[in-house]
Amino acid sequence: MKIASLLGLASLPSTLALGIPSHQQVFSSPEWFRPISNPRESCPQAPPVTIPNDGLHSSLRFLSDEAFRARQADRLSRAVQIPTTVSDYMKDPYDEAFEPVVRFQAFLEKTFPLVHTHAKVEHINRLGLVFTLPGTNTTRKPILFMAHQDVVPIDDPADWTHPPFAGVFDGDWIWGRGASDCKNVLIGLLSAVEGLLAQDWRAQRTVVLAFGFDEESHGFLGAGTIAPALLERYGEDAFEFILDEGGLGLQSLGGSNNNENDNDNDDENEVLYALPAVGEKGSLDLVLDLAVPGGHSSIPPAHTGIGIMAEILYELERQELFTPWLDTSHPAHGMFECQARYSPAHVEPWLAEKLAANDPAALADAVAISRGPIIRHTLQTSQAADLIRGGVKTNALPEKISAVVNYRVALHQSPDEVRERAERIIRPVAERHNITLHVAFPGVSGATDDKNDLKSEEGESRSLTLSPLSAPLVPAPISPTDPLSSKTWARFAGVARSVFESHPNPLSADSSMSGSGSESAKKPTVVVTGDIMTGNTDTRFYWPLSKNIYRWSPARVGASLNIHTVDERVRLDVHLEGVMVYYDLIRSFDGWDESVE
Ligand SMILES: *[C@@H]1O[C@H](CO)[C@@H](O)[C@H](O)[C@H]1NC(C)=O
Ligand SMILES: *[C@@H]1O[C@H](CO)[C@@H](O)[C@H](O)[C@H]1NC(C)=O
Ligand SMILES: [Zn+2]
Repeated sequence: MKIASLLGLASLPSTLALGIPSHQQVFSSPEWFRPISNPRESCPQAPPVTIPNDGLHSSLRFLSDEAFRARQADRLSRAVQIPTTVSDYMKDPYDEAFEPVVRFQAFLEKTFPLVHTHAKVEHINRLGLVFTLPGTNTTRKPILFMAHQDVVPIDDPADWTHPPFAGVFDGDWIWGRGASDCKNVLIGLLSAVEGLLAQDWRAQRTVVLAFGFDEESHGFLGAGTIAPALLERYGEDAFEFILDEGGLGLQSLGGSNNNENDNDNDDENEVLYALPAVGEKGSLDLVLDLAVPGGHSSIPPAHTGIGIMAEILYELERQELFTPWLDTSHPAHGMFECQARYSPAHVEPWLAEKLAANDPAALADAVAISRGPIIRHTLQTSQAADLIRGGVKTNALPEKISAVVNYRVALHQSPDEVRERAERIIRPVAERHNITLHVAFPGVSGATDDKNDLKSEEGESRSLTLSPLSAPLVPAPISPTDPLSSKTWARFAGVARSVFESHPNPLSADSSMSGSGSESAKKPTVVVTGDIMTGNTDTRFYWPLSKNIYRWSPARVGASLNIHTVDERVRLDVHLEGVMVYYDLIRSFDGWDESVE
């Protein structure tokens, strides 16, 4: 998963994690409980799903049974010990750098024998793994679970508390690269299915598990070949839902202290927000290639190529800045409505009013200022000049200067708009420096498609070419999150509620899942609401396969840490809660007949 927003967020206390200033005043006016003037119900919630009485053991056993816990810690630890790292430059599934993935798959085969016996196991493009448990009732749409086998490389192992590929389990945490992104997901999925098969469960509804092997390196080899194969086999919109890693996990926030006589402490009303991502921003890597005449640096022009490139980047960071926008079509609108409804004492006093005021720019601006850059960038396009290269020697003028600017395109914009803005800003700079501007975007009218043609053009010694590094990505289609109109979402959300309302937070001090104290511990209220991701997952290859794509590693904030950086780790309890989610999702969708809901 490539998502910057999870990095800093995970280590913060829960209110900070939601981007709310910790000094936020507690608002206690009963005015909060006025119905919002918008006739739409705000934050409608699906009821918890009653897990079918199928004779299988309760999902809680994953969390409470010491033998299950020990086995699960061992499974995840061993998975982390196989360093399936990928670089940015892998183009061939037979690259010997993928050798650990081969070992990883041998480990999976040994660890999950029932899955490997009962499921059809396919290798796509050598290392893509697809498990299919064929259901007895083919009328029911299959469900698809995704994860990736690869992990990002580590920098200096000396920076780590425990060696990054030792898979140390310290009794609470499993440490190492991939522990939270996302071998916890992959091992959790296989463990849930293995656990079902061990009880002689047989699928009514087909279950597919699809694991890419280069998600951290753009996903073209893995998800990029698995998705078309599934599309050919199953057709468009063939899956009831697709669940991948990602999202914002579960974040807790105090609840509504609406009862004046309620002297209970805040914990009593704790609300746990389950935040699957139901959309992703788009992206565009804009490449700028500048060519100017060289020469001796003792007789320079007023602006060298590097100076000109610097001016271009400076202008891109100065003009027509991107602004946030939050209308009701944005999933975060629903999320804020939920916070205003269920945790009014813990959000900005103006939030409900601004949500109802129907001014998407003013609302987005206020929210972005109040909540900070993580939330801001779910609402606006981001721009980051990330690469620059130019010059070879101190006494030679640079002839070829290139830069790459990375854009993450907000839901209300398109990569085309972003490119047009860049052109508008860059063109006058180019003209001022007598530079010919070429726009080499395939499909853009008037653009030159082939960069090589430009180089051969006679007499053109000063040129700037704009091109995309890879195909621009439009923002993902938004999966529906209204439980009244989407039965699939209602059931998915209902399972999330039943799992997380079934037991107290295993990480809180007064809870002991394996001991006797759990009766007195409080079970939370769970509110399920969608949001979007600022980065992209492998699901970007899967859009045609389902209208319901959820990106959600169901981990509590603060208990799945340091994705992509030093000391990545996950709490065993949180990994086990993930197994519970997968186990109960499969059971709850297996015999479900949406027409009789
Ligand atoms: C502008 O570029 C053209 C073609 O490269 C060249 O003939 C002309 O002299 C340049 N003018 C200036 C002011 O650099
Ligand atoms: C198969 O699934 C469909 C759709 O859910 C349902 O209507 C039908 O009754 C099921 N058939 C059996 C034999 O369970
Ligand atoms: Zn990931």
